[in-house]
Amino acid sequence: MGDDQVKGLSRGLTNYGDKDFSVYLRNSFASSMGYSREVLKKPIVGIANSFSGFNNCHRHFPELVEAVKRGVLLGGGLPIEFPTISLGEVFLSPTSLKFRNLMSMDTEEMVRAQPMDAVVLMGGCDKTVPAQLMGAASADLPAVQLVAGPMMTSRYGEERLGACTDCRRFWGKYRAGEVGTEQINDIEGRLATTAGTCAVMGTASTMACIAETLGMSLPGTAAIPAVHADRLRAAEASGRAAARMIDQPIRPSQIITEKSVENALRMLLALGGSTNAIVHLTAVAGRLGIKVSLERMNELSDTTPVLVNLKPVGEHYMEDFFFAGGVGAVLREIKPLLHLDTLTVAGETLGDRLERDPGYVDHRVIAKAETPLELQGGLVGLFGNLAPRGAVLKRSAADETLFEKTGRAVVFNSLEDLANRVDDPDLDITKDDFMVLQNAGPKSASGMPEAGYLPIPKKLSSQGIKDMVRISDARMSGTAFGTIILHVAPEASVGGPLALVRNGDQIKLSVENKSIELLVSDEELAQRKSEWKSDNVPPEQRRGYDRLYAAEVSQADEGCDFAFLQPIPAEN
Ligand code: FES
Repeated sequence: MGDDQVKGLSRGLTNYGDKDFSVYLRNSFASSMGYSREVLKKPIVGIANSFSGFNNCHRHFPELVEAVKRGVLLGGGLPIEFPTISLGEVFLSPTSLKFRNLMSMDTEEMVRAQPMDAVVLMGGCDKTVPAQLMGAASADLPAVQLVAGPMMTSRYGEERLGACTDCRRFWGKYRAGEVGTEQINDIEGRLATTAGTCAVMGTASTMACIAETLGMSLPGTAAIPAVHADRLRAAEASGRAAARMIDQPIRPSQIITEKSVENALRMLLALGGSTNAIVHLTAVAGRLGIKVSLERMNELSDTTPVLVNLKPVGEHYMEDFFFAGGVGAVLREIKPLLHLDTLTVAGETLGDRLERDPGYVDHRVIAKAETPLELQGGLVGLFGNLAPRGAVLKRSAADETLFEKTGRAVVFNSLEDLANRVDDPDLDITKDDFMVLQNAGPKSASGMPEAGYLPIPKKLSSQGIKDMVRISDARMSGTAFGTIILHVAPEASVGGPLALVRNGDQIKLSVENKSIELLVSDEELAQRKSEWKSDNVPPEQRRGYDRLYAAEVSQADEGCDFAFLQPIPAEN
């Protein structure tokens, strides 16, 4: 019997040079956990549980995992939970992105190395879902993504609060002197008050919607609030769906295809979703040899309307999105733009799913395709001599009056430089300048943090300036907003053109032409390049994971994945 046909505990044996002994030993050790012989004969659904005391978004996983187990048992399988790395967004230094690939490797290898016939992946916080999808795509065992679900909102006086757009909104007011110290401290305790992921259409919510659109999560489950009883029912159903896939396997490679990735891009654009999601989707698709290009994203963006009125772009929160109809309602609005023959973990096609009665849809939250919030998608890729391999702008969260503009560069050459000088009253800057941050890309010491949302210098914010053009090779939180150009590739710390920008240079932005140009002659740029030196510590002078990361991480346009995790091309 091939290893693929062997089920349950006898899969993937530990090698002692005697197969029967390996089975005997494994059964004997498993018995020590109190399983009966009958149970040990069952096929196994692994449950990758990314619960951690360092991850507030996953604090309800102990309850959720019990519901997954119930579903697996109802489906005739044996549920076995195992831990993986967890990535709690605000608890990781220098930035969670650096550990996404590590979590994906943990997930892939533990799914492959341990005896399971299918797996439920429990994730939620920003990098955990992409990491699990990347790992599942590479392991290619039947897998169901179960997300944590979003937090509920809270209140401060008459204000409705939800992490983390309101965290930034109030912090901006505090910096501008509009909110006092006592008030900001009170608000701190009310921004995030339940289990679950950030309450707006940030990265976690965007990735949850993408997982559902790809077909890796059960229909209707992305937006269920973390604390809603439906979330427990979704967990039970996910366990059951994974158990069903033991006998009727549908592998991630059958679900994540060029067509479903294109559907996911449409969803990202219709949501006005997080810029991070383009990096993550590129990485997930890359694990199956599918390329996501910013050029293609621009083509889709031109024909995909923004429909979802959620913060940080609009007014509402994830719980409103759930009650308004969630992912299914958005999919129905953009149905003519979708590939309907893609598969889902429920064993049906997207077309089958969209045949069902949509139920109530609140069009204040999810606009009709005929009356969209914006005619074009929320993200746009920009190209030019400043970003030969592209950069990303979330136009739906930006100030349109800044879209066609030439400005003088005010350059910060690192995060430290930014922190030291941005609030200096003597900083030579006006609201019409372009703030430029260098050396914050994937190979920099800071590891591409969410620092692209450069703070407006105090001398300008105190005059009421709320937005300026800001350019960097960093990322920004999905919960942030502003005219912020991100993911410039190649990055400054490998000598990309961003490294060559100097104070006083003119930069021309044209969203209409999808371009970002440094108005400096080629000769001058060549001269600057010949004088440029990297500040990066070379990989061979580092150790451990930091060394691996520095050597292997790819640029933003390739998903910041490791080259060695890409599939090996089939021989001709
Ligand atoms: Fe976990 Fe925002 S901190 S999703």
